[in-house]
Amino acid sequence: MWRLAVAFLLFGTLQAVDRQNFKVCDQSGFCKRHRSIVEPTGYEVIKDSIKLNETGLHAKIKNKDNTLKLSIVVLKDSTVRVLIDEDEGALRPRYQPLDALVNREPEQQKLKKSKEEENATKLLTTDGNRVVLIHKPFRIDFYVKDKIVNSINSKGTLKFEQFKKKVLLTDKEKGFWEETFKEIKDTKPYGSSSVGVDIAFVGAKFVFGIPEHAEGYQLRDTRTYEPYRLYNLDVFEYETNSPMALYGSIPYLVGVNQKRSVGALWLNAAETWVEIEPTTADKGALAKEVLDAETKPRNVPQQNARFISESGVIDIFITLGPQPNDIFRQLAALTGVTPIPPEFALGYHQSRWNYKDQKDVKEVHEGFVKNDIPLDVLWLDIEHTDKKAYFTFDKDNFAKPEEMISDLAENNRKLVTIVDPHIKKDGKYHIYKEAKKNKLFVKDVNGDNYEGNCWPGDSMYVDYTNPKARKWWAEQFAFDKYKGTDKNVHIWNDMNEPSVFSGPEITMHKDAKHHGGFEHRDVHNVYGFYQHSATFDGLKARSNNEIRPFVLSRSFFAGSQRTAAVWTGDNKADWNHLRYSIPMLLSLSTAGLPFVGADVGGFFGDPEEELLVRWYQAGAFQPFFRGHSHQDTKRREPWLFNSTTTDAIRQAIKTRYAFLPYWYTLFYEHAKSGKPVMRPFWLEFIEDESSWDEDRQWMVGSGLLVKPVQEPSAKEVSIYLPGKRQVWYDWHTHKARPSPGAVQIPADLNTIALFHRGGTIIPKTSEVKLTTKENREQPITLYIAVNQKGDFANGTIYLDDGESYSYENGDFAYWGFTFKKEHDYLHTITSTNLDKKGKLDSDVYIDKIVIRGAKFYPRNAHIFLDDFIPEDLEFEFNRDNFLMEIENPGAYVTREFKIDIHS
Ligand SMILES: *[C@@H]1O[C@H](CO)[C@@H](O)[C@H](O)[C@H]1NC(C)=O
Ligand SMILES: *[C@@H]1O[C@H](CO)[C@@H](O)[C@H](O)[C@H]1NC(C)=O
Ligand SMILES: *[C@@H]1O[C@H](CO)[C@@H](O)[C@H](O)[C@H]1NC(C)=O
Ligand SMILES: *[C@@H]1O[C@H](CO)[C@@H](O)[C@H](O)[C@H]1NC(C)=O
Repeated sequence: MWRLAVAFLLFGTLQAVDRQNFKVCDQSGFCKRHRSIVEPTGYEVIKDSIKLNETGLHAKIKNKDNTLKLSIVVLKDSTVRVLIDEDEGALRPRYQPLDALVNREPEQQKLKKSKEEENATKLLTTDGNRVVLIHKPFRIDFYVKDKIVNSINSKGTLKFEQFKKKVLLTDKEKGFWEETFKEIKDTKPYGSSSVGVDIAFVGAKFVFGIPEHAEGYQLRDTRTYEPYRLYNLDVFEYETNSPMALYGSIPYLVGVNQKRSVGALWLNAAETWVEIEPTTADKGALAKEVLDAETKPRNVPQQNARFISESGVIDIFITLGPQPNDIFRQLAALTGVTPIPPEFALGYHQSRWNYKDQKDVKEVHEGFVKNDIPLDVLWLDIEHTDKKAYFTFDKDNFAKPEEMISDLAENNRKLVTIVDPHIKKDGKYHIYKEAKKNKLFVKDVNGDNYEGNCWPGDSMYVDYTNPKARKWWAEQFAFDKYKGTDKNVHIWNDMNEPSVFSGPEITMHKDAKHHGGFEHRDVHNVYGFYQHSATFDGLKARSNNEIRPFVLSRSFFAGSQRTAAVWTGDNKADWNHLRYSIPMLLSLSTAGLPFVGADVGGFFGDPEEELLVRWYQAGAFQPFFRGHSHQDTKRREPWLFNSTTTDAIRQAIKTRYAFLPYWYTLFYEHAKSGKPVMRPFWLEFIEDESSWDEDRQWMVGSGLLVKPVQEPSAKEVSIYLPGKRQVWYDWHTHKARPSPGAVQIPADLNTIALFHRGGTIIPKTSEVKLTTKENREQPITLYIAVNQKGDFANGTIYLDDGESYSYENGDFAYWGFTFKKEHDYLHTITSTNLDKKGKLDSDVYIDKIVIRGAKFYPRNAHIFLDDFIPEDLEFEFNRDNFLMEIENPGAYVTREFKIDIHS
């Protein structure tokens, strides 16, 4: 009862989630033990153990209980890795989720210099950074250009529970050797092996990251509250504004500072809790280090993050920035990027649990045509299978899947089917039989196949941590194995936390056994990652590596972006869930996972029509755009409402398709730079601190600011325009506004506040078609937003075939457009090939150019194509709002041109 009362107080009012199913820190033995440390744990470096080499050092550290080994290695591009593990002679090896990294051994960089002092060892890097290992008490400080930016163990919380031989239990040790939660026992045969330490972000007022939580973008002070929990869980109707764990985990956060931002990746796949403590530098051990002529320590903000994991090692990657672009590139070098998705995946997806049968599928997809609403993909949830046996179709309702798929394909549409990791226990089911025979299932603590309950009833779970199981899994997607499918079928991996209805916290027992002798507790957060990676490999292989796969996963880990898109799971049809989808997607984007979305309309419950419209408007500007709903909800295909609602939804989806050339270009640029497509403001406006924690608005790329309406009956929208001395144009009215500043615009049911940033050029489809495939052939309108000085704007466009890997062999085009004031009487617009390796010559042409902020009076304009003979252009000029529109300039997107505008 006491515990109930506390949990109640901690989280505020109860919503639908059954919170009692999930632990708070106090109910998790290791979290509680770490959190109750008050005195520093007293580690120091054993001095004569320090061995320096060309790229770093290794050493031993000890306190009264333990001796540990430490290595500090400098990596390429201002990144430093710190690894702390048990000393030689450990009873068991510890798990490291190294497959989350692009390279299991990230490239090292030679040191410029190293220096041994009485109480410190200093490493100077060729990037101009400095790493200082302080011997006593043990601490590691990081400096960028002589400013301290980060420190590990400055609070002395390092705790490392070593594997021990089991001895007679004292009461005190009880939680160490076994634990019970809601009558389910964790036998802990090897005892506790938790690890934890603090990481200080010096100079950072804000920290962002560590998805997934239904929380605001800015991480909050957790000291008087619960720490953020990272433990992949299937949480039914999750609540918003809560640090509770959800479906996926990326143990990465970034401390933001105007001059020096810093990221930290905690590479550990076990259950992890993260404590955040906002403070100032004078309050801790680092006060002396920040002291200099200009700043007083008490004016230096600091965020102490503390990571606590149930098992594994301490493996920290510090990325030293210093600028936001650098931070994203450095993270991408570690955990990778999303390769350019197949273009259809950026269109609109229609899903439901469930479309009943082939007739239903046909009616829905034809409904989109009939109602003039774009659609690229139809989704089939679990009921399409033969009694929840994945890789099969129901024999009655989906008797002829080939017909259904080719009907969709003839209309340039795709099908996505669901394939979950729990395998129906059924001696007649081929997948079950093969996995069992080949010993590919997770084992329980006794070494038998682990059994749990999920959709099919009794089920077993593929052990994707086993490379053999991944290979086998990938093979199941071959067209001759997954009968009825072809290249137009892509895959959805759900329930892969994994969800076990009969398990503790609705997941797998922690003492279950995986490949290599590891326990489930060691690998839990990387389980889903391995499933969707294997799915991706299978889809790629089934087409001889020719077609780009699309995989959606609910569970994820660091590195998931390389093979999956993710969505925010089972949200609810209420305004709050619409509102919180924004910070959730921004946190994912910040942690390196760009292809993200939330179920439009909300999964549970029936949205009122206005909410549904607003959600479509938000989803149209989020990377992954899918309507989905629970089987108990009313049908909600867009035409089932009154015509005002249907019109507004159609308009939102069409707006998405109109901006597809821009979206596609942004995904290409993400793959090169690591920058997300849906962007938090600090990435674009580091000079404007007041905008950094904004989470009701976002940027799409660097050119487009979006604010959807997020509350009922709105008569207007207020927008904050970030940046310093910039100009913004209302997308629809072209009206210019200075920044920083707030504006209000009137709102009706069709309003999505959109602002075009001065200095950028955005390509947009002039006339939208009903699928991405047809849309991509359409002419483009170039929207030029002239900068505040009135002399410049630029932008890009990327094109390829939208589905294959031929872009790797030069079958692509990446072009730039520049608007420039040459002198008072001449402005030009030019195009340039930005990557000469791209050989694609496309038929796509520009049928209109819109110049916003044209602060000149054009007299005439002409275009030069490759024959250098000027041709006169027709244009209109509106001097009231400085708008110039050039019709049919005759320019192609992938050919050089120059337009002169004389004034
Ligand atoms: C330097 O030592 C560290 C820690 O043992 C090791 O990881 C790294 O590979 C070594 N570097 C070289 C160049 O041998
Ligand atoms: C080592 O340096 C740290 C940080 O400057 C200081 O707090 C500590 O007292 C020093 N220890 C010794 C033994 O000099
Ligand atoms: C249609 O739905 C909208 C909300 O999307 C609502 O505002 C309007 O009143 C409805 N119109 C009719 C005629 O019911
Ligand atoms: C666009 O202009 C900005 C500002 O001059 C520049 O930093 C950027 O590299 C340009 N982009 C391209 C693709 O040329």
